Amino acid sequence: MGKRVYFFDTTLRDGEQTPGVSLNQLEKVEIALRLEALGIDVIEAGFAAASPGDAACIRAVAQAVSKPLVVGLARANKEDIDAVVQSLGDLDNTGIHIFLATSPIHRQKKLGMTKQEVIDSSTECVAYASQFFKHIQFSCEDSTRSELDFLCEVSESVIKAGATVLNFPDTVGYTTPEEYTKQFEYIIKNTKGIENIRLSCHCHNDLGLAVSNSIAALMAGATQVEGCITGIGERAGNVALEEIAALLETRKDYYQKETGINLKEIAKTSKLVSRITGIAIPPNKAVIGANAFAHASGIHQDGVIKDKSTYEIMKPESVGFTDSKLVLGKLSGRNALKKRFDVLGYTVADENLKQIFEKYKELADRKKEIFEEDIIALLEAETSKDKNTNYIFKDLSIQVLNNKQYRAFVHVINEMDNSIVEGIGEGNGPIDAIYKAIDNSLNKNIELTDYKINSISKGKDSIGEVFVKVKETNKASQGRAINVDIIMASAEAYIDAINRLMRVTTDVKMLIE
Ligand code: KIV
Ligand code: ZN
Repeated sequence: MGKRVYFFDTTLRDGEQTPGVSLNQLEKVEIALRLEALGIDVIEAGFAAASPGDAACIRAVAQAVSKPLVVGLARANKEDIDAVVQSLGDLDNTGIHIFLATSPIHRQKKLGMTKQEVIDSSTECVAYASQFFKHIQFSCEDSTRSELDFLCEVSESVIKAGATVLNFPDTVGYTTPEEYTKQFEYIIKNTKGIENIRLSCHCHNDLGLAVSNSIAALMAGATQVEGCITGIGERAGNVALEEIAALLETRKDYYQKETGINLKEIAKTSKLVSRITGIAIPPNKAVIGANAFAHASGIHQDGVIKDKSTYEIMKPESVGFTDSKLVLGKLSGRNALKKRFDVLGYTVADENLKQIFEKYKELADRKKEIFEEDIIALLEAETSKDKNTNYIFKDLSIQVLNNKQYRAFVHVINEMDNSIVEGIGEGNGPIDAIYKAIDNSLNKNIELTDYKINSISKGKDSIGEVFVKVKETNKASQGRAINVDIIMASAEAYIDAINRLMRVTTDVKMLIE
Protein backbone atom coordinates (compact mmCIF):
# COMPACT_ATOMS: atom_id res chain seq x y z
CA MET A 1 0.00 0.00 0.00
CA GLY A 2 1.52 3.33 -1.15
CA LYS A 3 2.50 5.73 1.61
CA ARG A 4 2.45 8.91 -0.48
CA VAL A 5 -1.00 10.41 -1.09
CA TYR A 6 -1.32 12.72 -4.12
CA PHE A 7 -3.70 15.65 -3.79
CA PHE A 8 -5.75 16.44 -6.90
CA ASP A 9 -7.58 19.73 -6.54
CA THR A 10 -10.68 20.40 -8.62
CA THR A 11 -11.79 23.69 -7.02
CA LEU A 12 -11.40 25.35 -10.42
CA ARG A 13 -13.55 22.75 -12.22
CA ASP A 14 -15.91 20.73 -9.98
CA GLY A 15 -15.80 23.64 -7.50
CA GLU A 16 -16.84 25.98 -10.27
CA GLN A 17 -19.87 23.73 -10.81
CA THR A 18 -21.23 25.02 -7.48
CA PRO A 19 -24.54 26.73 -8.29
CA GLY A 20 -23.91 30.40 -9.04
CA VAL A 21 -20.09 30.22 -9.05
CA SER A 22 -18.15 31.33 -12.10
CA LEU A 23 -14.50 32.30 -11.99
CA ASN A 24 -12.61 34.52 -14.39
CA GLN A 25 -9.03 33.97 -15.55
CA LEU A 26 -7.38 36.20 -12.94
CA GLU A 27 -9.33 34.52 -10.16
CA LYS A 28 -8.44 31.04 -11.41
CA VAL A 29 -4.77 31.98 -11.61
CA GLU A 30 -4.84 33.54 -8.16
CA ILE A 31 -6.40 30.44 -6.63
CA ALA A 32 -3.99 28.18 -8.57
CA LEU A 33 -0.97 30.04 -7.17
CA ARG A 34 -2.33 29.51 -3.66
CA LEU A 35 -2.91 25.82 -4.41
CA GLU A 36 0.71 25.60 -5.51
CA ALA A 37 1.86 27.16 -2.21
CA LEU A 38 -0.40 24.67 -0.39
CA GLY A 39 1.47 21.81 -2.07
CA ILE A 40 -1.29 20.45 -4.32
CA ASP A 41 0.08 17.85 -6.76
CA VAL A 42 -2.48 18.11 -9.58
CA ILE A 43 -4.72 21.06 -10.43
CA GLU A 44 -7.78 20.49 -12.61
CA ALA A 45 -8.12 23.97 -14.08
CA GLY A 46 -11.37 23.70 -16.05
CA PHE A 47 -13.36 22.17 -18.85
CA ALA A 48 -11.81 23.36 -22.11
CA ALA A 49 -14.73 22.49 -24.39
CA ALA A 50 -17.10 24.67 -22.37
CA SER A 51 -15.96 27.93 -23.95
CA PRO A 52 -12.88 29.61 -25.42
CA GLY A 53 -12.74 31.56 -22.13
CA ASP A 54 -12.47 28.40 -20.05
CA ALA A 55 -9.87 27.00 -22.44
CA ALA A 56 -7.82 30.20 -22.02
CA CYS A 57 -8.13 29.94 -18.22
CA ILE A 58 -6.71 26.41 -18.25
CA ARG A 59 -3.73 27.55 -20.30
CA ALA A 60 -3.18 30.61 -18.09
CA VAL A 61 -3.18 28.41 -14.98
CA ALA A 62 -0.66 25.99 -16.52
CA GLN A 63 1.59 28.92 -17.45
CA ALA A 64 1.32 30.49 -13.99
CA VAL A 65 2.25 27.52 -11.80
CA SER A 66 5.44 25.51 -12.01
CA LYS A 67 5.23 22.62 -9.54
CA PRO A 68 1.73 21.13 -9.83
CA LEU A 69 0.70 19.20 -12.90
CA VAL A 70 -2.24 20.91 -14.61
CA VAL A 71 -5.02 18.95 -16.30
CA GLY A 72 -8.12 19.88 -18.30
CA LEU A 73 -11.34 17.87 -18.27
CA ALA A 74 -12.82 16.26 -21.41
CA ARG A 75 -15.86 14.12 -22.12
CA ALA A 76 -15.07 10.97 -24.07
CA ASN A 77 -15.16 12.52 -27.53
CA LYS A 78 -12.56 13.82 -29.96
CA GLU A 79 -13.75 17.48 -29.89
CA ASP A 80 -13.39 17.74 -26.11
CA ILE A 81 -9.96 16.08 -26.21
CA ASP A 82 -8.86 18.44 -28.99
CA ALA A 83 -9.96 21.41 -26.88
CA VAL A 84 -7.66 20.25 -24.04
CA VAL A 85 -4.83 19.60 -26.54
CA GLN A 86 -5.27 23.17 -27.84
CA SER A 87 -5.06 24.55 -24.29
CA LEU A 88 -2.28 22.43 -22.86
CA GLY A 89 -0.76 20.19 -25.56
CA ASP A 90 2.41 22.25 -26.04
CA LEU A 91 3.06 22.94 -22.33
CA ASP A 92 5.22 20.84 -20.00
CA ASN A 93 3.81 19.26 -16.88
CA THR A 94 0.27 18.99 -18.16
CA GLY A 95 -2.23 16.20 -18.75
CA ILE A 96 -5.79 15.32 -19.60
CA HIS A 97 -8.71 13.96 -17.60
CA ILE A 98 -11.28 12.04 -19.68
CA PHE A 99 -14.51 10.71 -18.21
CA LEU A 100 -17.38 8.50 -19.28
CA ALA A 101 -20.19 7.11 -17.15
CA THR A 102 -20.14 3.37 -16.45
CA SER A 103 -23.24 2.76 -14.30
CA PRO A 104 -26.33 1.07 -15.79
CA ILE A 105 -28.44 4.11 -14.83
CA HIS A 106 -26.18 6.48 -16.77
CA ARG A 107 -25.59 4.05 -19.65
CA GLN A 108 -29.29 3.47 -20.20
CA LYS A 109 -30.90 6.72 -19.16
CA LYS A 110 -28.29 9.35 -20.04
CA LEU A 111 -25.96 7.97 -22.69
CA GLY A 112 -28.08 5.34 -24.44
CA MET A 113 -24.94 3.19 -24.77
CA THR A 114 -24.30 -0.52 -24.31
CA LYS A 115 -21.48 -1.81 -22.12
CA GLN A 116 -19.42 -2.57 -25.21
CA GLU A 117 -19.96 0.93 -26.58
CA VAL A 118 -18.76 2.44 -23.28
CA ILE A 119 -15.61 0.26 -23.40
CA ASP A 120 -14.95 1.09 -27.04
CA SER A 121 -15.48 4.81 -26.68
CA SER A 122 -13.32 5.06 -23.49
CA THR A 123 -10.54 3.03 -25.07
CA GLU A 124 -10.52 4.95 -28.36
CA CYS A 125 -10.47 8.28 -26.55
CA VAL A 126 -7.63 7.32 -24.22
CA ALA A 127 -5.63 5.95 -27.20
CA TYR A 128 -6.27 9.17 -29.13
CA ALA A 129 -5.23 11.36 -26.16
CA SER A 130 -2.05 9.33 -25.65
CA GLN A 131 -0.62 10.88 -28.83
CA PHE A 132 -0.57 14.23 -27.03
CA PHE A 133 -0.20 13.56 -23.28
CA LYS A 134 1.83 11.25 -21.06
CA HIS A 135 -0.44 11.87 -18.08
CA ILE A 136 -3.91 10.52 -18.89
CA GLN A 137 -6.49 10.16 -16.17
CA PHE A 138 -9.63 8.21 -16.97
CA SER A 139 -12.71 8.43 -14.73
CA CYS A 140 -15.55 5.92 -14.62
CA GLU A 141 -18.29 8.41 -13.80
CA ASP A 142 -20.86 7.12 -11.27
CA SER A 143 -18.48 4.24 -10.54
CA THR A 144 -20.11 3.49 -7.19
CA ARG A 145 -23.37 2.46 -8.91
CA SER A 146 -21.55 0.45 -11.59
CA GLU A 147 -21.07 -3.33 -11.82
CA LEU A 148 -17.69 -4.26 -10.31
CA ASP A 149 -16.76 -6.64 -13.14
CA PHE A 150 -17.60 -3.96 -15.68
CA LEU A 151 -15.35 -1.45 -13.86
CA CYS A 152 -12.53 -3.98 -14.13
CA GLU A 153 -13.22 -4.51 -17.85
CA VAL A 154 -13.22 -0.78 -18.61
CA SER A 155 -10.12 -0.27 -16.47
CA GLU A 156 -8.17 -3.05 -18.14
CA SER A 157 -9.01 -1.72 -21.57
CA VAL A 158 -8.09 1.93 -20.89
CA ILE A 159 -4.86 0.89 -19.17
CA LYS A 160 -3.86 -0.97 -22.36
CA ALA A 161 -4.72 2.17 -24.35
CA GLY A 162 -2.40 4.36 -22.25
CA ALA A 163 -4.26 5.60 -19.14
CA THR A 164 -1.87 6.38 -16.28
CA VAL A 165 -4.40 7.28 -13.58
CA LEU A 166 -7.76 5.62 -12.94
CA ASN A 167 -10.38 7.48 -10.97
CA PHE A 168 -13.50 5.90 -9.46
CA PRO A 169 -15.80 8.78 -8.57
CA ASP A 170 -18.69 8.54 -6.17
CA THR A 171 -20.44 11.01 -8.45
CA VAL A 172 -23.71 11.16 -6.54
CA GLY A 173 -22.37 10.69 -3.00
CA TYR A 174 -24.06 7.29 -2.69
CA THR A 175 -21.42 4.89 -1.43
CA THR A 176 -20.39 4.03 2.13
CA PRO A 177 -16.88 3.56 3.53
CA GLU A 178 -17.30 -0.23 3.70
CA GLU A 179 -18.66 -0.48 0.17
CA TYR A 180 -16.04 1.86 -1.31
CA THR A 181 -13.29 -0.15 0.41
CA LYS A 182 -14.62 -3.35 -1.19
CA GLN A 183 -14.87 -1.62 -4.58
CA PHE A 184 -11.19 -0.62 -4.56
CA GLU A 185 -10.07 -3.99 -3.22
CA TYR A 186 -12.04 -5.80 -5.92
CA ILE A 187 -10.73 -3.64 -8.76
CA ILE A 188 -7.14 -3.93 -7.54
CA LYS A 189 -7.44 -7.73 -7.30
CA ASN A 190 -9.23 -8.30 -10.60
CA THR A 191 -7.74 -5.83 -13.10
CA LYS A 192 -4.71 -6.83 -15.15
CA GLY A 193 -2.03 -4.13 -15.45
CA ILE A 194 -3.30 -2.06 -12.50
CA GLU A 195 -0.06 -2.43 -10.48
CA ASN A 196 1.61 0.60 -12.03
CA ILE A 197 -1.46 2.80 -12.23
CA ARG A 198 -2.24 5.62 -9.83
CA LEU A 199 -5.70 4.97 -8.35
CA SER A 200 -7.84 7.89 -7.39
CA CYS A 201 -10.96 8.56 -5.33
CA HIS A 202 -13.38 11.43 -5.92
CA CYS A 203 -16.19 11.74 -3.39
CA HIS A 204 -19.26 13.93 -3.32
CA ASN A 205 -20.86 14.74 -0.01
CA ASP A 206 -24.59 14.13 -0.57
CA LEU A 207 -24.89 11.96 2.54
CA GLY A 208 -22.10 13.67 4.48
CA LEU A 209 -19.70 10.75 3.92
CA ALA A 210 -17.17 12.34 1.57
CA VAL A 211 -14.29 12.42 4.08
CA SER A 212 -14.99 8.92 5.42
CA ASN A 213 -15.33 7.49 1.92
CA SER A 214 -12.12 9.15 0.70
CA ILE A 215 -10.15 7.88 3.67
CA ALA A 216 -11.59 4.40 3.16
CA ALA A 217 -10.40 4.47 -0.46
CA LEU A 218 -6.92 5.61 0.57
CA MET A 219 -6.70 2.77 3.10
CA ALA A 220 -7.90 0.30 0.44
CA GLY A 221 -5.16 1.19 -2.03
CA ALA A 222 -6.02 4.52 -3.69
CA THR A 223 -3.05 6.87 -3.77
CA GLN A 224 -4.75 10.01 -5.06
CA VAL A 225 -7.56 11.97 -3.43
CA GLU A 226 -9.62 14.50 -5.36
CA GLY A 227 -11.61 17.32 -3.85
CA CYS A 228 -12.11 21.05 -3.47
CA ILE A 229 -10.90 23.58 -0.96
CA THR A 230 -13.70 24.29 1.58
CA GLY A 231 -15.69 21.40 0.06
CA ILE A 232 -17.49 23.35 -2.65
CA GLY A 233 -18.79 21.58 -5.78
CA GLU A 234 -21.92 20.11 -7.37
CA ARG A 235 -24.93 19.83 -5.02
CA ALA A 236 -23.61 19.09 -1.49
CA GLY A 237 -20.06 19.57 -2.76
CA ASN A 238 -16.87 17.54 -3.03
CA VAL A 239 -14.69 16.33 -0.19
CA ALA A 240 -12.96 19.28 1.52
CA LEU A 241 -9.28 18.70 0.78
CA GLU A 242 -8.14 20.67 3.84
CA GLU A 243 -10.04 18.17 6.00
CA ILE A 244 -8.26 15.21 4.41
CA ALA A 245 -4.88 16.94 4.78
CA ALA A 246 -5.49 17.84 8.44
CA LEU A 247 -6.80 14.34 9.17
CA LEU A 248 -3.80 12.57 7.59
CA GLU A 249 -1.43 14.82 9.54
CA THR A 250 -3.23 14.76 12.90
CA ARG A 251 -3.72 10.98 12.76
CA LYS A 252 -0.42 10.11 11.07
CA ASP A 253 0.13 7.68 13.94
CA TYR A 254 -2.83 5.69 12.58
CA TYR A 255 -2.91 6.26 8.81
CA GLN A 256 0.88 6.38 8.24
CA LYS A 257 0.57 8.42 5.04
CA GLU A 258 2.81 11.14 3.60
CA THR A 259 1.55 14.14 1.64
CA GLY A 260 3.13 17.14 -0.05
CA ILE A 261 0.72 19.51 1.72
CA ASN A 262 2.01 22.50 3.64
CA LEU A 263 -0.70 22.67 6.29
CA LYS A 264 0.18 26.23 7.28
CA GLU A 265 -1.23 27.42 3.95
CA ILE A 266 -4.72 26.07 4.67
CA ALA A 267 -6.09 29.22 6.33
CA LYS A 268 -4.96 31.52 3.49
CA THR A 269 -6.15 29.17 0.76
CA SER A 270 -9.59 28.57 2.25
CA LYS A 271 -10.16 32.28 2.92
CA LEU A 272 -9.20 33.13 -0.65
CA VAL A 273 -11.52 30.49 -2.14
CA SER A 274 -14.36 31.66 0.08
CA ARG A 275 -13.81 35.30 -0.81
CA ILE A 276 -13.53 34.71 -4.56
CA THR A 277 -16.47 32.31 -4.85
CA GLY A 278 -18.62 34.28 -2.40
CA ILE A 279 -19.38 31.08 -0.47
CA ALA A 280 -19.05 31.79 3.23
CA ILE A 281 -17.30 29.26 5.47
CA PRO A 282 -19.80 28.04 8.10
CA PRO A 283 -18.50 28.86 11.60
CA ASN A 284 -18.66 25.21 12.66
CA LYS A 285 -16.83 23.89 9.57
CA ALA A 286 -14.07 21.43 10.49
CA VAL A 287 -10.50 22.79 10.43
CA ILE A 288 -11.30 26.20 8.87
CA GLY A 289 -14.50 27.45 10.56
CA ALA A 290 -14.30 30.48 12.85
CA ASN A 291 -15.35 28.28 15.79
CA ALA A 292 -13.09 25.34 14.95
CA PHE A 293 -10.66 26.39 17.69
CA ALA A 294 -13.03 28.36 19.94
CA HIS A 295 -13.85 27.06 23.42
CA ALA A 296 -17.14 28.27 24.84
CA SER A 297 -18.03 26.22 27.88
CA GLY A 298 -16.40 26.95 31.24
CA ILE A 299 -15.21 23.35 31.65
CA HIS A 300 -13.49 23.39 28.25
CA GLN A 301 -11.98 26.84 28.86
CA ASP A 302 -10.63 25.71 32.21
CA GLY A 303 -9.09 22.62 30.58
CA VAL A 304 -7.49 24.62 27.77
CA ILE A 305 -5.99 27.12 30.24
CA LYS A 306 -4.44 24.22 32.16
CA ASP A 307 -3.24 22.45 29.04
CA LYS A 308 -4.37 23.06 25.45
CA SER A 309 -4.18 19.37 24.60
CA THR A 310 -7.21 18.72 26.84
CA TYR A 311 -9.59 20.00 24.15
CA GLU A 312 -7.41 20.81 21.12
CA ILE A 313 -6.31 18.01 18.83
CA MET A 314 -4.38 20.37 16.55
CA LYS A 315 -3.05 23.86 16.95
CA PRO A 316 -4.72 26.73 15.04
CA GLU A 317 -1.21 27.87 14.00
CA SER A 318 -0.55 24.44 12.43
CA VAL A 319 -3.19 25.20 9.76
CA GLY A 320 -2.14 28.83 9.44
CA PHE A 321 -4.50 30.70 11.76
CA THR A 322 -2.94 33.47 13.82
CA ASP A 323 -4.50 36.28 15.84
CA SER A 324 -5.28 39.24 13.63
CA LYS A 325 -2.75 42.00 14.22
CA LEU A 326 -2.80 45.70 13.68
CA VAL A 327 -0.55 46.70 10.83
CA LEU A 328 1.46 49.81 10.05
CA GLY A 329 0.30 53.33 10.67
CA LYS A 330 -0.77 56.08 8.36
CA LEU A 331 2.78 57.30 7.81
CA SER A 332 4.32 53.97 6.90
CA GLY A 333 5.95 53.73 3.49
CA ARG A 334 5.67 51.36 0.58
CA ASN A 335 8.62 49.23 1.71
CA ALA A 336 7.13 48.69 5.14
CA LEU A 337 3.91 47.51 3.49
CA LYS A 338 5.83 45.15 1.20
CA LYS A 339 7.70 43.74 4.21
CA ARG A 340 4.43 43.14 6.02
CA PHE A 341 3.12 41.19 3.04
CA ASP A 342 6.35 39.16 3.06
CA VAL A 343 5.89 38.30 6.73
CA LEU A 344 2.30 37.24 6.00
CA GLY A 345 3.58 34.98 3.22
CA TYR A 346 2.29 36.96 0.21
CA THR A 347 4.55 37.82 -2.70
CA VAL A 348 3.53 41.11 -4.28
CA ALA A 349 4.63 42.12 -7.77
CA ASP A 350 6.02 45.67 -8.01
CA GLU A 351 3.32 46.81 -10.42
CA ASN A 352 0.64 45.69 -7.98
CA LEU A 353 2.40 47.15 -4.95
CA LYS A 354 2.15 50.69 -6.36
CA GLN A 355 -1.67 50.45 -6.71
CA ILE A 356 -2.12 48.65 -3.39
CA PHE A 357 -0.07 51.31 -1.63
CA GLU A 358 -2.31 54.05 -3.05
CA LYS A 359 -5.39 52.21 -1.83
CA TYR A 360 -3.69 51.66 1.53
CA LYS A 361 -3.11 55.41 1.93
CA GLU A 362 -6.73 56.15 1.04
CA LEU A 363 -7.82 53.55 3.56
CA ALA A 364 -5.55 54.95 6.28
CA ASP A 365 -7.25 58.33 5.80
CA ARG A 366 -10.68 56.83 6.38
CA LYS A 367 -10.11 54.06 8.89
CA LYS A 368 -8.61 54.41 12.37
CA GLU A 369 -6.96 51.03 12.65
CA ILE A 370 -5.77 48.85 9.78
CA PHE A 371 -5.58 45.10 10.35
CA GLU A 372 -3.82 42.35 8.44
CA GLU A 373 -7.14 41.27 6.89
CA ASP A 374 -7.54 44.76 5.45
CA ILE A 375 -4.26 44.76 3.57
CA ILE A 376 -4.81 41.18 2.39
CA ALA A 377 -8.22 42.28 1.02
CA LEU A 378 -6.53 45.19 -0.79
CA LEU A 379 -3.98 42.81 -2.28
CA GLU A 380 -6.58 40.27 -3.38
CA ALA A 381 -8.81 42.98 -4.87
CA GLU A 382 -5.86 44.33 -6.86
CA THR A 383 -4.54 41.00 -8.15
CA SER A 384 -7.95 39.77 -9.28
CA LYS A 385 -9.04 43.11 -10.74
CA ASP A 386 -10.62 42.70 -14.13
CA LYS A 387 -8.58 44.62 -16.69
CA ASN A 388 -10.94 44.14 -19.64
CA THR A 389 -13.95 45.96 -18.37
CA ASN A 390 -16.70 47.52 -20.49
CA TYR A 391 -18.06 49.73 -17.74
CA ILE A 392 -16.50 51.54 -14.79
CA PHE A 393 -18.57 52.88 -11.94
CA LYS A 394 -17.85 56.64 -11.57
CA ASP A 395 -20.05 58.16 -8.84
CA LEU A 396 -23.49 58.32 -7.33
CA SER A 397 -25.77 60.39 -5.15
CA ILE A 398 -28.91 59.40 -3.28
CA GLN A 399 -32.03 61.27 -2.21
CA VAL A 400 -34.42 60.02 0.47
CA LEU A 401 -37.87 60.77 -0.98
CA ASN A 402 -39.78 59.72 2.12
CA ASN A 403 -38.82 57.12 4.66
CA LYS A 404 -39.72 54.30 2.27
CA GLN A 405 -38.56 55.51 -1.17
CA TYR A 406 -35.09 56.41 -2.40
CA ARG A 407 -33.90 58.00 -5.63
CA ALA A 408 -30.36 57.37 -6.95
CA PHE A 409 -28.37 59.17 -9.64
CA VAL A 410 -25.38 57.26 -11.04
CA HIS A 411 -22.64 57.93 -13.55
CA VAL A 412 -21.00 55.03 -15.34
CA ILE A 413 -18.07 55.26 -17.76
CA ASN A 414 -18.71 53.29 -20.92
CA GLU A 415 -15.20 52.25 -21.93
CA MET A 416 -16.32 51.02 -25.34
CA ASP A 417 -16.87 54.58 -26.60
CA ASN A 418 -15.35 56.54 -23.70
CA SER A 419 -18.65 58.19 -22.85
CA ILE A 420 -20.14 58.85 -19.43
CA VAL A 421 -23.71 57.68 -19.07
CA GLU A 422 -26.14 58.81 -16.43
CA GLY A 423 -29.00 56.84 -14.89
CA ILE A 424 -31.76 57.61 -12.42
CA GLY A 425 -33.65 54.99 -10.45
CA GLU A 426 -36.11 54.79 -7.59
CA GLY A 427 -36.46 51.94 -5.15
CA ASN A 428 -37.45 50.70 -1.70
CA GLY A 429 -33.97 51.20 -0.35
CA PRO A 430 -30.72 52.82 -1.45
CA ILE A 431 -29.32 49.66 -3.07
CA ASP A 432 -32.55 48.94 -4.95
CA ALA A 433 -32.55 52.54 -6.25
CA ILE A 434 -28.84 52.39 -7.27
CA TYR A 435 -29.22 49.08 -9.09
CA LYS A 436 -32.25 50.42 -10.97
CA ALA A 437 -30.31 53.57 -11.85
CA ILE A 438 -27.40 51.47 -13.18
CA ASP A 439 -29.81 49.32 -15.23
CA ASN A 440 -31.36 52.49 -16.66
CA SER A 441 -27.97 54.04 -17.44
CA LEU A 442 -26.93 50.93 -19.39
CA ASN A 443 -30.35 50.23 -20.83
CA LYS A 444 -30.45 46.78 -19.27
CA ASN A 445 -32.84 44.74 -17.21
CA ILE A 446 -30.64 42.71 -14.91
CA GLU A 447 -32.01 40.34 -12.29
CA LEU A 448 -30.23 40.39 -8.92
CA THR A 449 -30.22 36.81 -7.66
CA ASP A 450 -28.03 37.19 -4.58
CA TYR A 451 -26.54 39.98 -2.48
CA LYS A 452 -24.18 39.45 0.46
CA ILE A 453 -22.18 41.81 2.59
CA ASN A 454 -19.35 40.98 5.01
CA SER A 455 -16.97 43.03 7.07
CA ILE A 456 -13.33 42.34 6.32
CA SER A 457 -11.91 43.09 9.77
CA LYS A 458 -13.05 44.54 13.11
CA GLY A 459 -14.75 47.80 14.06
CA LYS A 460 -17.63 49.93 12.86
CA ASP A 461 -15.38 51.49 10.22
CA SER A 462 -14.33 48.11 8.78
CA ILE A 463 -14.04 47.64 5.02
CA GLY A 464 -17.23 46.09 3.66
CA GLU A 465 -17.10 43.41 1.01
CA VAL A 466 -20.15 43.09 -1.23
CA PHE A 467 -20.77 40.01 -3.33
CA VAL A 468 -23.61 39.89 -5.86
CA LYS A 469 -24.98 37.38 -8.35
CA VAL A 470 -26.92 38.55 -11.38
CA LYS A 471 -28.81 37.05 -14.31
CA GLU A 472 -29.88 38.31 -17.71
CA THR A 473 -31.96 35.93 -19.87
CA ASN A 474 -30.00 32.63 -19.70
CA LYS A 475 -26.65 34.09 -18.64
CA ALA A 476 -25.48 34.45 -15.05
CA SER A 477 -22.44 35.93 -13.37
CA GLN A 478 -21.13 37.24 -10.08
CA GLY A 479 -19.30 40.34 -8.96
CA ARG A 480 -17.61 41.66 -5.85
CA ALA A 481 -16.03 44.80 -4.52
CA ILE A 482 -14.57 46.16 -1.30
CA ASN A 483 -14.92 49.67 0.08
CA VAL A 484 -15.21 51.30 3.50
CA ASP A 485 -18.40 52.80 2.08
CA ILE A 486 -20.74 49.85 1.61
CA ILE A 487 -23.05 51.79 -0.71
CA MET A 488 -20.11 52.35 -3.07
CA ALA A 489 -19.03 48.71 -2.70
CA SER A 490 -22.58 47.67 -3.65
CA ALA A 491 -22.53 49.77 -6.82
CA GLU A 492 -19.02 48.58 -7.77
CA ALA A 493 -19.89 44.91 -7.19
CA TYR A 494 -22.96 45.24 -9.43
CA ILE A 495 -20.93 46.84 -12.24
CA ASP A 496 -18.29 44.10 -11.82
CA ALA A 497 -21.01 41.46 -12.27
CA ILE A 498 -22.35 43.22 -15.39
CA ASN A 499 -18.86 43.37 -16.92
CA ARG A 500 -18.47 39.62 -16.39
CA LEU A 501 -21.96 38.94 -17.67
CA MET A 502 -21.03 40.49 -20.98
CA ARG A 503 -18.29 37.92 -21.43
CA VAL A 504 -20.27 34.83 -20.41
CA THR A 505 -20.72 32.59 -23.44
CA THR A 506 -21.60 29.00 -22.55
CA ASP A 507 -22.80 27.64 -19.28
CA VAL A 508 -20.12 25.14 -18.22
CA LYS A 509 -22.52 23.38 -15.89
CA MET A 510 -25.06 22.59 -18.58
CA LEU A 511 -22.39 20.94 -20.70
CA ILE A 512 -21.16 18.62 -17.97
CA GLU A 513 -24.57 17.58 -16.62
O1 KIV B 1 -18.17 13.50 -9.92
C1 KIV B 1 -17.74 13.11 -11.01
O2 KIV B 1 -18.01 12.01 -11.47
C2 KIV B 1 -16.90 14.02 -11.78
C3 KIV B 1 -16.26 13.47 -13.01
C4 KIV B 1 -16.27 14.45 -14.10
C5 KIV B 1 -14.90 12.99 -12.66
O3 KIV B 1 -16.68 15.14 -11.37
ZN1 ZN C 1 -17.33 15.36 -9.27
